[in-house]
Amino acid sequence: MNKIGIIGAMEQEISLLKEKMEEVCITTRASMEFYEGRLHGKQVVVVRSGIGKVNAGVCAQILVDVFGVEAMINTGIAGSLKNEINIGDIVLSTDVVQHDMDASGFGYPLGQIPQMDAFSFEADAHLADLAERVCKRVNPEIQVFRGRVASGDQFISSRSVKEEIKKNFQGFCVEMEGAAIGQTAYLNGIPFLIIRAISDKADDSASVAYETFEKQAILHSVNLTENMLKEL
Ligand code: ADE
Repeated sequence: MNKIGIIGAMEQEISLLKEKMEEVCITTRASMEFYEGRLHGKQVVVVRSGIGKVNAGVCAQILVDVFGVEAMINTGIAGSLKNEINIGDIVLSTDVVQHDMDASGFGYPLGQIPQMDAFSFEADAHLADLAERVCKRVNPEIQVFRGRVASGDQFISSRSVKEEIKKNFQGFCVEMEGAAIGQTAYLNGIPFLIIRAISDKADDSASVAYETFEKQAILHSVNLTENMLKEL
């Protein structure tokens, strides 16, 4: 993998990475600033996509078309969908699905995009293996899980909505960009990995928890992403 695209939805999720980059060249496309350069000797393009699936999809396609990235990593935070996944823990994607895709009126299962072969989009197992190994070394105080990431254009802050998503998708965490990045990677035939640190439990306490734990969670995800690059 010669050049890697690193996407964060929010500035806080990528600012630490940008600060450590060398030989930086900044290009603006679709109102997004793409930071091209080196990070720990690796050629990378780091970018803030903005929040939600449309921003993430546009951003990912630009990374492929304009910058020719050969893999994409998404670093960020998420709400936990499982009791055993605690605030601060990391979830690495096995696959990604859009929990708000609903063509059930035509007989499709919830999440299935009509007329596409795949139900969910598979993340790269080698990237996930590496991330898991590195995470255990650099974030030894937290747990790391591998499972499905469910994405939608909603901040999930209700127990009943959370339970519906759990029942329908068997996801490990919920966020707002991963499935768009995974789908774009799939369409372009390149590997991807979603790395999410848990900021809240996606239930009625989510908004308050998010405010409190956002910063700490971001540090775990960024720390992992940065250290992974050293071994890629
Ligand atoms: N990102 C972090 N927490 C989230 C939640 N509860 N829902 C959607 N995206 C999130």
